[in-house]
Amino acid sequence: MHITTTNICGSDLHMYEGRTSVEEGKILGHENMGVVAEAGSAVGRIEAGGRVSVPFNIACGSCRNCEAGWASFCLRTNPTEGMDGAAYGYANMGPYDGGQAEYLRVPHADFNLLRLPPGNDHENDFTMLSDIFPTGWHGAELAGLRPGESVVVFGAGPVGLMAAHSAIIRGAAKVFVVDKEPGRLALAEKIGAQPVDFSQADPAQQILDATGGKGADCGVEAVGYQAHDPSGQEHPELVLDKLVESVRSTGGIGVVGVYLPQDPGAATEQAQQGPDSLPVRHFVQQGSAHGHRAVPGQALQPAAARPDRRGPREPVVPRLPRTPPRRRRRRLRQVRPPRERLDQGPAAAVTEQAGNRARARRGPPPHRLRRDRHRSR
Ligand SMILES: NC(=O)c1ccc[n+]([C@@H]2O[C@H](COP(=O)([O-])OP(=O)(O)OC[C@H]3O[C@@H](n4cnc5c(N)ncnc54)[C@H](O)[C@@H]3O)[C@@H](O)[C@H]2O)c1
Ligand SMILES: [Zn+2]
Ligand SMILES: [Zn+2]
Repeated sequence: MHITTTNICGSDLHMYEGRTSVEEGKILGHENMGVVAEAGSAVGRIEAGGRVSVPFNIACGSCRNCEAGWASFCLRTNPTEGMDGAAYGYANMGPYDGGQAEYLRVPHADFNLLRLPPGNDHENDFTMLSDIFPTGWHGAELAGLRPGESVVVFGAGPVGLMAAHSAIIRGAAKVFVVDKEPGRLALAEKIGAQPVDFSQADPAQQILDATGGKGADCGVEAVGYQAHDPSGQEHPELVLDKLVESVRSTGGIGVVGVYLPQDPGAATEQAQQGPDSLPVRHFVQQGSAHGHRAVPGQALQPAAARPDRRGPREPVVPRLPRTPPRRRRRRLRQVRPPRERLDQGPAAAVTEQAGNRARARRGPPPHRLRRDRHRSR
């Protein structure tokens, strides 16, 4: 495909700063979108000329993990010993070059590509779909956020802001965003969150003060192992510790920031050993639910792309083409080729699972399409 837009991710910074084992000469770039230049002979669903978004994981769509909805841990696409899951232009994630280039080769295109409306409208909004929006969405999902709850998001980078935006879409009553960069905190405020400046006072204390001493209902970690104190000194465990202090007992904590078991490029000997002081004891004591899994972009893009029903807000993801009405869909299903079904299987599985949980909590089904997909299988 011909790249029309690609981003530099916070995860690329770890590689640019020499904090990973990425091989020299690798072309980075895993947040890609563009226009298909040419489709291979085995590709059936994608055609040359189509505008597409590329989720950052590269997955086969049919191995055990892909079938279960965990395309981020595909068992087939990464030949690296001991590693499941592949990505474009990323350390240890397989021999794939990234899209900070003119062209990108996309394996398993039928499974991996999300088709977008033609033209070049909403280019900057759609480009969020390859990684950042689904990752932020997944942070809120892992945290177990329910409508009416409060959530604290650490990190106001693109991932943190998208987690905050997702939390607002999902009905959070109060969203705190912790960072120290004034421009980023201003963006958090602009999308409806309450900014918390960790350089002014202890962020956990600020959250406790704002919640009558009880803490936020859940939290999202969107900083990663290069977390630092106000002076810029890195402490890989800092944000995890502060999250535990800021979230009420039994509250969920979703971790989407990247953590490394070892970090030879870190400044101090202790930090080189990785986040050893991860407060496991506190997690256990609190009975917190916490999740830390890379994001299955293929499954989550459609969920993240659902339009915000409560009116426009920045940044706006435009409405995607509507699904045909239910009766027509039933007819379409009968003639749908097997490839199309394969493509929808894992995504439907994950959204269905999420749907079940959401229905259990909220009553009426949030998304009829998911239920219908499930019934069709
Ligand atoms: N799980 C995934 O699939 C996935 C996908 C994309 C990004 N990521 C990871 O998510 C993390 C965030 O990504 P990003 O693109 O937003 O990165 P970023 O570097 O742009 O943002 C990180 C933010 O954290 C802030 N920060 C640093 N120390 C802090 C502290 N002690 N308290 C609060 N905030 C602090 C920084 O000021 C910065 O604004 C990175 O670790 C990235 O690798 C994970
Ligand atoms: Zn990324
Ligand atoms: Zn697979």
